[in-house]
Amino acid sequence: MIIKKLLEISILFLFAKSAMAGKTYNVLNYKARGDGKSDDTNIDGNITAPNKIWTNERTSLLSFAGINDLNIGGNGTIDGQGAVWWQCNQCKKPFLLAFDTCKNLFVGDIRLINSPSKHLTFNKCTNVSVDWIRITAPGDSPNTDGIVMQGTQHIQITRSIIGTGDDCIAILTGSNDIKINRCTCGPSHGISIGSLGGGYTEANVERIHVSNCLIFNSMTGVRIKTWQGGYGYARDITFEAIKVAHVDTPIVIDQSYMSQRTLQQKAVAISNIRFMKIYGTSTQTEAVKIECSPTSPCTGVTFSNIALYKEGQDRKVSAICENAYGTTNGMIVPSLRILRKSKVL
Ligand SMILES: *[C@@H]1O[C@H](CO)[C@@H](O)[C@H](O)[C@H]1NC(C)=O
Ligand SMILES: *[C@@H]1O[C@H](CO)[C@@H](O)[C@H](O)[C@H]1NC(C)=O
Ligand SMILES: *[C@@H]1O[C@H](CO)[C@@H](O)[C@H](O)[C@H]1NC(C)=O
Repeated sequence: MIIKKLLEISILFLFAKSAMAGKTYNVLNYKARGDGKSDDTNIDGNITAPNKIWTNERTSLLSFAGINDLNIGGNGTIDGQGAVWWQCNQCKKPFLLAFDTCKNLFVGDIRLINSPSKHLTFNKCTNVSVDWIRITAPGDSPNTDGIVMQGTQHIQITRSIIGTGDDCIAILTGSNDIKINRCTCGPSHGISIGSLGGGYTEANVERIHVSNCLIFNSMTGVRIKTWQGGYGYARDITFEAIKVAHVDTPIVIDQSYMSQRTLQQKAVAISNIRFMKIYGTSTQTEAVKIECSPTSPCTGVTFSNIALYKEGQDRKVSAICENAYGTTNGMIVPSLRILRKSKVL
């Protein structure tokens, strides 16, 4: 693995913390140069976690915090050896590779496999580029999300292939200006915005563009999920040119995630959401489920050129579309009953 420093920052800020040993390793001691020119190839190779329960703290196998101008690449594999963790219900399962409050990050060409829980996380980072990475874990491994971001701005994820037991990519509160392009997901729970607003909290996400992705063998394709009782917004979100294959429910907005709907609760406001050129096959008849809150309807929801079919003999699918205001244009299969009148709230 290559860990290359890009700009003229002090190398002293470049460190890899191994939570496993509770120790911080200075890469300079492992022949890294960090002069902005050399690839630090002496730390090339694979990183493999111990094949046992090695922590009971909320931690990560590898974490980088407060680092600017960092480039992590190469052909290395980080193997979390997650199998022993997946069967342990009470364990606090570590993430595999975590970035906190980092700026100007590039992560590319690496492979992450079998994390005990989430594989790659960004918390409060700015200006992040992820390119050509592969993330793999079994489809039935619990909570093994591929990439999860929270409080992160200006991030692009391109040309990456992710197959795990949970969300392929999850976008959580405080994240904005996100571009996901040419990614492949499957098996997975799809590309998810949320869940947002759990525990009656505020959540804000905006300016998200997901395009040219393939999602296959997955529970959902693209989805926005919010809890009842939260507040804030999820807005200016586009899903464009998404091919789905063998996906249970390709398009989902769920404003009462994990609960029965009750009328009085407020919700994270969902507005300006575009679903464009989404096509392929579902396993369920209800291929589109837009379930917005009656007290806080979704507004500005646009569907254009949707073509979904069920696998097998009877290829007909149907849509649920509740409390959503917006427009449709082009071919829309299945047909949707979107509310036309824009509602002033
Ligand atoms: C790293 O791991 C990959 C995948 O497990 C393997 O194919 C490769 O040979 C390993 N490389 C080294 C240097 O051990
Ligand atoms: C990855 O491996 C390929 C094939 O061995 C090599 O051509 C490429 O330069 C390597 N990439 C990096 C960034 O080391
Ligand atoms: C964003 O980070 C990249 C490195 O990944 C860097 O080259 C670029 O200059 C940064 N952009 C800004 C606006 O700082």
